[in-house]
Amino acid sequence: MSENFEPRIVAFCCQYCSYAAADLAGSMRLSYPPNVKVVLVPCTGRVDPLHILRTIEDGADGVCVAGCLEGDCHFLEGNFKARKRVAYVQRILNEAGVEDARVRMFNIAASDGPGFAEAARMMTETIRALGPNPLSTKTEKMTEEL
Ligand code: FES
Repeated sequence: MSENFEPRIVAFCCQYCSYAAADLAGSMRLSYPPNVKVVLVPCTGRVDPLHILRTIEDGADGVCVAGCLEGDCHFLEGNFKARKRVAYVQRILNEAGVEDARVRMFNIAASDGPGFAEAARMMTETIRALGPNPLSTKTEKMTEEL
């Protein structure tokens, strides 16, 4: 693994909680690794397994799905569906010989800016330890676009 490896992580964050927590972390000037790129979604229940797999295929080294706390989803069960889908994607990755820790679900309250910063740090360290995504066929292309 290259010593200069910097993980590229995509975080699908629901607008009501985890996206607000990410915003709050910024407002609180909490430092967390810039490796995590946030994608706003209406609810984690809208994140399809294909979105996660396509993100990995397109060169992300890790993917987080971050939603409301359990019981707080504004669409009632979206985060429970997301948790099942993340587990499903983890099984597919395992079958493909890829570490399932590259995909992870977080539940973060809107008021928990520090929790978002901690999740970003944790995910970045995990992926840094795993190294580059072995499935990526477009890593170079993505790097050029950034
Ligand atoms: Fe946040 Fe559903 S609205 S997970």
